[in-house]
Amino acid sequence: MTDSQRFLLVLCLVGVSTLLSQAATHSSHPFPGQQQQMAPPPDPCYDDSGTARRCIPDMRGVPPHHRPAPPVVRSCHVCDAADARRAHPASYLTDLNSAHNLTCWQSDNLAGAHNVSLTLSLGKKFEITYVSLQFCSPKPDSMAIYKSMDYGKSWLPYQYYSSQCRRVFAKPNKAAITKQNEQEALCTDVHLQGESHAASGGGGSGGGGGLIAFSTLDGRPSGKDFDGSPVLQDWVTVTDIRVVFTRPQLGLEDPVASVSGGAAPTYFYAVGDFQVGGRCKCNGHASRCMRDRDAKLVCDCKHNTEGPECDRCKPFHFDRPWQRATGRDANECLPCNCNLHARRCRFNMELYKLSGRKSGGVCMNCRHNTAGRHCHYCKEGFYRDMARPITHRRACKACDCHPVGAAGKTCNQTTGQCPCKDGVTGITCNRCAKGYQQSRSPVAPCIKIPVISPTAVVSSSSTEAEESADCESYCKPVKGNLKINMKKYCKKDYAVQVNVLDMQTVGDWAKFTVNVVSVYKSRGEPLKRGDNLLWIHMKDLACKCPRLQMSKRFLVLGTTENTGSNAGAGSTPGTGLLADKNSLVIQWRDVWTRRLRKFQRKEKKGKCSKA
Ligand SMILES: *[C@@H]1O[C@H](CO)[C@@H](O)[C@H](O)[C@H]1NC(C)=O
Ligand SMILES: *[C@@H]1O[C@H](CO)[C@@H](O)[C@H](O)[C@H]1NC(C)=O
Ligand SMILES: *[C@@H]1O[C@H](CO)[C@@H](O)[C@H](O)[C@H]1NC(C)=O
Repeated sequence: MTDSQRFLLVLCLVGVSTLLSQAATHSSHPFPGQQQQMAPPPDPCYDDSGTARRCIPDMRGVPPHHRPAPPVVRSCHVCDAADARRAHPASYLTDLNSAHNLTCWQSDNLAGAHNVSLTLSLGKKFEITYVSLQFCSPKPDSMAIYKSMDYGKSWLPYQYYSSQCRRVFAKPNKAAITKQNEQEALCTDVHLQGESHAASGGGGSGGGGGLIAFSTLDGRPSGKDFDGSPVLQDWVTVTDIRVVFTRPQLGLEDPVASVSGGAAPTYFYAVGDFQVGGRCKCNGHASRCMRDRDAKLVCDCKHNTEGPECDRCKPFHFDRPWQRATGRDANECLPCNCNLHARRCRFNMELYKLSGRKSGGVCMNCRHNTAGRHCHYCKEGFYRDMARPITHRRACKACDCHPVGAAGKTCNQTTGQCPCKDGVTGITCNRCAKGYQQSRSPVAPCIKIPVISPTAVVSSSSTEAEESADCESYCKPVKGNLKINMKKYCKKDYAVQVNVLDMQTVGDWAKFTVNVVSVYKSRGEPLKRGDNLLWIHMKDLACKCPRLQMSKRFLVLGTTENTGSNAGAGSTPGTGLLADKNSLVIQWRDVWTRRLRKFQRKEKKGKCSKA
């Protein structure tokens, strides 16, 4: 046979393969006994309660049977897949059951012992259980079955047959298969046992015949636990099968050749039936295979899987790793839990392990202002609206923190409480707390109202009546004396007009932040205009001598030395001005400007020393 002829043969058989795989999917397959017209059965991938369970496509192909000898009438046609008129349908190689009209594929006369191959392309991965060949000619002496798992790119030996395994295939005859070499192709001469020159060449049998069948799991120890053996699952996985006839049975005279009356005996291989039995490989996640839009054979995947072999999880179903279904567990792919706020997620092995192999999905791009692995809390600047479930589109509300009252824009994610500045209150920090009043300062928008309950200052046991009586005598010498004259002006160390901005308490002292608007007198260290501190002892403040109010202007005349009137209080607690019950603190009136300027001039002329 020339190369081009061999090429023709192979092409013909490629044609076979296409039809075979079609046969494996359409209900009009050539294998009887499997064709049933009935209402669509319930989905075998789920039980009655809807729980996922393992499902597998039907077994395709049937074991060939021994059949009576082919009829005597023969007609030969050249098979040429490239020529529509001479391309023979695949059914010719699968029609063994039409016993009275047997069609055989026959190779050219073998001038030399060339290799001849039959290739069957299944178009997708199948898990096959057997390969069988029914011969019209005598069985070959040597042949090999190869498989491909990558659509014919590479080939692996599946099984060898030869009367001389070592010489032809460099393999021992009948090696043992153990758990360690379950993917090894064996060589055997079992196909020739029972064959004899007399039996097959004796005319009556009509051209040899006989069956060679290879069972993929036969004799492989893990075959009993196929579910638990990835090695064997891989071993039976096939996209293409190729049978290579390497050597005819030399010495066997072909009856046809002798009948047709030539001189020299001719040899050829003739196959009446070529079958591969198996299931569309779907890893337990589909009960059938079908044609996709491109007419490619694919699994009809269930259990949230996808891919030609249901070999990966569908998008958004990455909560645990993909696994093949077993009899015990369907191992369906589980959706990520994103509370309806994400469309995509990814799998994280570390989280999966940390969860005790329960959940490893991580949501991506959480929407609706949510955040977290499961989009299960509100992102920064938002808080949970407890009136709505977390799955609600508006489960997270914006914080709405007051630009002045709040110390930041991020609120408590469960309560919505914004972080308020001192003395500020409210969910959004929009009002002053009790005992505080609004100021003009954006830094301290609420300041303590500088009227301190006397009980807090003097003694907790005193009643209010006692307190006011106490204050009266305490403040006596100056009480009601709110007039200024030259004498008073001379006695004091400083005279300033201040604007009261803020107050804080430091121990027993009230520390006022004041803005010195003008300076009329300053003995000792010169006073400057601008912000300064004014200290008043709490007791003096509690008795309102002096009285000072926030955000108002005051004229303050005081001494720089502590007069010691504050029993046990010590001297000024820090830098700044000091005012006490002996100081003159009166609300500012503009008419005083002129009067104070006059006092200033008089003092320069030495009037104070005279007074
Ligand atoms: C035998 O099969 C071939 C191809 O299927 C068909 O063309 C032919 O008519 C059949 N002959 C008989 C006798 O059934
Ligand atoms: C035929 O096949 C055998 C076994 O696969 C191989 O060793 C040999 O080289 C092949 N011969 C030719 C001519 O291709
Ligand atoms: C948010 O408020 C709740 C309830 O008052 C509190 O338990 C939790 O600690 C707060 N969270 C933060 C981050 O302050």
